[in-house]
Amino acid sequence: MIDPYGRVVSGLRVSLTQRCNLNCTYCHHEGEGASGIEMTTDEVLRIVSVARSLGVRRVKYTGGEPLLRRDIKEIIKGTTSMDLEDVAITTNGSLLKQHAQNLVDAGLHRLNISLPSIRPEVYRSLTGGSLDDAMEGVMEAKGLGMEIKVNVVMMKGVNEGEIDPLLEFAKSLHGGLQLIELEDLNLEASFFEKYHLDLSDIEEQLAKRTGHVIEREDMNRRRRYAINGLPVEVVRPINNPQFCMRCSRLRVTSDGKLKPCLMRSDNLIDLLGPMRKGNSDGALKGLFLKALNLRSPYYLQPS
Ligand code: 5AD
Repeated sequence: MIDPYGRVVSGLRVSLTQRCNLNCTYCHHEGEGASGIEMTTDEVLRIVSVARSLGVRRVKYTGGEPLLRRDIKEIIKGTTSMDLEDVAITTNGSLLKQHAQNLVDAGLHRLNISLPSIRPEVYRSLTGGSLDDAMEGVMEAKGLGMEIKVNVVMMKGVNEGEIDPLLEFAKSLHGGLQLIELEDLNLEASFFEKYHLDLSDIEEQLAKRTGHVIEREDMNRRRRYAINGLPVEVVRPINNPQFCMRCSRLRVTSDGKLKPCLMRSDNLIDLLGPMRKGNSDGALKGLFLKALNLRSPYYLQPS
């Protein structure tokens, strides 16, 4: 699948539910509006399978909290048996203690853990949850040999000072660290203004500390810094035309709509309705191509 801007779509990011057991202050809810509907196991797998037939090679499941799905094991198992290059989930980790073994049994090797702070009181104030639960979950997954990437949404005056301990923590997991710019989506303007942190200083500091910068071929060709052997990525999407030009993913909302851009909700293409009306895989492919053609960079390079 190649969109009108020449961007190859190789990834699918599927939200499995809007439900979450935490309530993070900064959460953008994957750009979704409220909806009570969720896809069934078979519907999720059918969408992934159609995407695969169109060239998608990487699938990431997200939420809400994807581990709240009672069929998460079946979803992962069905997906890992599709011969994709990469299957991963993004989770807050608090339910991993119970679920990690099931996920490994289902063929999952990799996960991203959303961890905005490693100070218990800051973690509690940002998420409403307990850092211990998340940590226990991460350790369980680590003990089972999973590859773990730590996702940190950076917030001014809140977790800016935690970069070194976060580097250390991620290093102790032999994992990766991803520092993410707060995105202005489903947030109050005043909240965004108060907490938005420009990550250019942090990126500069990291660049100084490493002799080793790798540009990733996939994933928006983000720069990856190796700090003491730990891969660190700085994700800066805002006002970043290069970020958009390198976007290689389509999204699926928890209620089964194709979402061509995280930042927009005015160009969704419903898959679930047509699926439930009995449309063929061929018809679903047509809907994918329709969404593909609606893809346009949110931050466009000035010509
Ligand atoms: N800005 C940037 N990233 C966000 N995430 C959630 N809300 C925001 C936001 N406002 C990220 C978290 C989480 C992933 C699912 O989305 O890093 O890991």
